[in-house]
Order: sequence, then C-alpha cells, then structure tokens
Amino acid sequence: MTAVLSGTGARVERLPLARFTTLGVGGESEVWFVESHEQLTEAMQRPYRVLGGGSNLVVADEGVPERVIRLSGPLAGRDLNPDPQLSDGQTVVTGWVGGGVPLPGLIRQLQKLGLSGLEGTVGIPAQVGGAVWMNAGTRYGEMFDGLHTLEIATPQGVRQVTPDDLNWGYRNSGIPRGHVVSRVRLKLSRAAPQDVLAKMDFADQARRGQPKMKTPGCAFKNPGGVSAGKLIDEAGLKGTRVGNALIAPEHANFIVNLGGATAADVHALLGIIRERVPVPLELEYELWPERL
Ligand code: FAD
Ligand code: EPU
Repeated sequence: MTAVLSGTGARVERLPLARFTTLGVGGESEVWFVESHEQLTEAMQRPYRVLGGGSNLVVADEGVPERVIRLSGPLAGRDLNPDPQLSDGQTVVTGWVGGGVPLPGLIRQLQKLGLSGLEGTVGIPAQVGGAVWMNAGTRYGEMFDGLHTLEIATPQGVRQVTPDDLNWGYRNSGIPRGHVVSRVRLKLSRAAPQDVLAKMDFADQARRGQPKMKTPGCAFKNPGGVSAGKLIDEAGLKGTRVGNALIAPEHANFIVNLGGATAADVHALLGIIRERVPVPLELEYELWPERL
C-alpha cells in the first residue's frame, strides 16, 4: 500500500516493522505517523499499538493487525528553552519535549547545554515516550529522575500528570498500557557541561560488556535486584542458539540477531531460559502480539 492520508491528515502506510526495531525483526503492519493530538486521537479510535524506538520489542514475523502509532513532526520535536519563571538558577524546567524524540540525541544535547538529571540513561536507544513509559534506566539513573510534567493521551483525550500522580518504580511508570506519553517537560539542574559528560562516561562504562549486535536489550528484568544475566549465565546458557538468534556470549540477558533471525527463534530462546533458570523471571521485552 502506498501512503494515504487519514481524515485528520496523518500519513498511513504499510511498512515492515523490522525497519523500526533494534532487533531487526517484525512483519508488515499499518503504521500511522501522527503529528498532532488531533491525529493521535483519530488513530486511537480503533485497536492500536504505540511504537517508540522499537528497542524493547519482539514483533511477529507476520506483523500485527492493529494500527501502529508512531509519534512524528511536532510530537517528535523539542523546546528545551527553560521558562525563566520556572528557573530559579539551579532547577530548570524545560518546555515540551515530544514523546517521539530519540533519547540518545536528547541526552547529548542536554549535556552540551549543561543540564543535569538524565545523564544516567545514556546509551538507551529509546524514544523519550517509550523510555518514560517503562521508566528505562541504569543503576546510575532513570527517566523519572528528570520528569516535571507528563502529557498522556488516551482515546478520550489528553491530560497532564506529575510523577507524584503515578505509582512508578523499577522499569515501570505506572502508566497503563496503551496510554500514550505524547510530550513531557523535564526538571533538570544546571551543571558544568564537562561534569555532565564525566557522569555520562562513567555510566557508559557499565555497557562495556554488552553485545554490539542487533538486539532488544535485556530480555528479563532483574529479579529482586539480582542480575538476570548472571542467573542465565550460571545456568550455562551463554552461546545457546536457535535458528539465527543467540544468547550473547558477552552478556547472557541479551539475545542477538545473527542475521535473518525470526520472532519464533527469539521466543524459543526465551522458553529455554525460563525452563532452565530456577528463579521465576519477568520478561522485560514486549512481545507483539503478546503470544505467537
Ligand atoms: P519500544 O521498544 O518502541 O516500545 C516498548 C513499549 O513502550 C511498548 O509497549 C510501546 O507500546 C511502549 N511505548 C513506546 N512509546 C510510547 C509512548 N510514547 N507512550 C506510551 N507507550 C509507549 N532499557 C533500560 O531500561 N536500561 C538500559 O540500560 C537499556 N539498554 C539497552 C541497550 C540496548 C542496546 C537496547 C537495544 C535496549 C536497551 N534497553 C534498556 C531497552 C529499551 O531501550 C527500553 O526498554 C526503552 O524504554 C524502550 O523504549 P522505546 O522507545 O524503544 O520503546
Ligand atoms: N553477569 C554475569 N554474567 C552475565 C551478565 C552479567 O556474571 O552474563 C554479572 C556481571 O559480571 C556483574 C553483574 O552480573 O557482576 C551485573 O551485570 P551488569 O553490570 O551487566 O548489569 P545487569 O544487572 O545485568 C543492568 C540492566 C541493563 C543496564 C546495566 C548497566 C536490567 C535488566 N539490566 O544489567 O539494562 O544497561 O545494568 O546499568 O536491569 C535493559 O534493561 O535492557 C538493560 C540493558
């Protein structure tokens, strides 16, 4: 299907989701590129899913039947100019940052501006909305360290909330699935750019042992603070291969695509891990659809 415009002007096109996922897997689906709340609300009137940076997704090779919403245009734009009325010299509240903004570029920009608070999330290849939705982070910081206001869209309309309104925690924002983080305002503190850079470099050191191949990041959450990677490693599963998917020899909580892997290959590896690790593990990946 060539691109068509929806009633409110959103571009709609059938595209392979493999193009949008860091694993490089996922079949053709109907993608809605929404640039305004009007277009977002229209897209949400039928069953839909929200696509961010695709860095936590294992999408079926057949794709998904729902509309796939991708925040674009102004919803992927940013206004970092601090509002002078909200800036007291130390704390800075930014203007609106779109949920579709790529997080890595934003973190680099904040560093250059001497704005500190989110540098612990360096190296997470997400979009802002996706990273907020699951409160992505590392042991050096998480998204909720730097949030002031969140704008949340539902099929019924848009509302604003603050972090205090949400029951957030480790890898969890408390925002219901399907509610879209369309924009956020950040609450940061002023710092010397070189100090922010030093913190980023320090946090980045923790990634030295992570594989560099196509992957959706860690497969499982850490149970009770113990590294799931360590548990999978101790079960002797590093290097286990199904089809073209592999449990990374560098870090056992990463499944990588050797080239031409299918979603079924990844599912099979997840099953093997669950069977062999004696501790119940909660999936961090999102499976689209939830079961194949
Ligand atoms: P997607 O993968 O596109 O979607 C994931 C979920 O978020 C889906 O349910 C989707 O519907 C929802 N979503 C996406 N956008 C929105 C939105 N605007 N509003 C509401 N819901 C939305 N994670 C960490 O926490 N720490 C790490 O250190 C880390 N390192 C990683 C390293 C690599 C190399 C990779 C590939 C991944 C890593 N991840 C890490 C995992 C991943 O980056 C995070 O889970 C991230 O939050 C996913 O965001 P995304 O925008 O890519 O979302
Ligand atoms: N370990 C092993 N074998 C392995 C993997 C790890 O023995 O195969 C050991 C390490 O040697 C280390 C300990 O486990 O002693 C912790 O490992 P690591 O520092 O890699 O941290 P992690 O807990 O496995 C977490 C996050 C990562 C994040 C890193 C760095 C989760 C599920 N994972 O990994 O986040 O990048 O810390 O901060 O919380 C993600 O969520 O997708 C992700 C990549």
